[in-house]
Amino acid sequence: MNVPVWVNGELIGPEQATVSVFDHGLMVGDGVFETIKCVNGASFALTRHLDRLRLSAQRMDLPEPDVDAITAGVHACLAEAPPWQLGRIRVTYTSGPGPLGSDRGNQGCTAVVIVDEQKPFPATADVTVVPWPRNERGALAGVKSTSYGDNAKALFYAKARGGGEAIFENLAGNLCEGTGSNIFIVRDGRLLTPTLSSGCLAGVTRALTLEWCGGSEEDVPLSALYEAEEAFLTSTTRDIQPIRAVDQTTLPAAPGPITAKAMRVFAERSAADLDP
Ligand SMILES: Cc1ncc(COP(=O)(O)O)c(C=O)c1O
Repeated sequence: MNVPVWVNGELIGPEQATVSVFDHGLMVGDGVFETIKCVNGASFALTRHLDRLRLSAQRMDLPEPDVDAITAGVHACLAEAPPWQLGRIRVTYTSGPGPLGSDRGNQGCTAVVIVDEQKPFPATADVTVVPWPRNERGALAGVKSTSYGDNAKALFYAKARGGGEAIFENLAGNLCEGTGSNIFIVRDGRLLTPTLSSGCLAGVTRALTLEWCGGSEEDVPLSALYEAEEAFLTSTTRDIQPIRAVDQTTLPAAPGPITAKAMRVFAERSAADLDP
């Protein structure tokens, strides 16, 4: 299915769409992005995602993206796409063409919107803890930047060991997040998720889960994940996905009762409001 893509204001066939080989998104990962879910052809939580795009750009000292134009681009692509039961919208915004080093260019930013079908995730996830920490003090901590080499390497490591997602601790030795997901655990009957100071991304699904299903933001050592009564991942394309096993440790239940309730509440609330 050749759904057109949107590049800097133009809707164009995917085979014809191009960006410069000098684009700094390609050359040095100098850009930001968003992944937005679409359900039966309609975007979910678009406002929150575009707010985060703006914030990520600000954190990287990039010019402010034209969110109205990008919104128009999202709607234009969706209008040409089949009404997939589950789809994903990818928005990429980079500093545009630049010199060969890390200095930025001045030819204007690049904005791209692509939509595609999304296969549902498995009912549960096995996760693999990776030996490389998230740097919660780094310049890009919590920024959804296109510099995702760390995540690509970590997910490759996890998949080679049978995991569906890789989990990072941070420099402090605390539980942090996955490569494309946030993490919640149940400990002593309480639902917890790492604080934003852990270096994790401020996930849209994480925020909605806290709002709709309860839970506290609290930092815990990585070891708490292996000892959890229940645990789950949250992300735009997963919603809430129970964790079955952490490395070789099988958790007591997937989903356990608190996870099952959160999944139910999330499904009800997200169906009732497409832009919460
Ligand atoms: C590093 C990272 N953490 C967490 C998430 C989950 O965020 P969201 O719920 O907004 O999809 C993502 C999303 O892809 C991510 O890339």
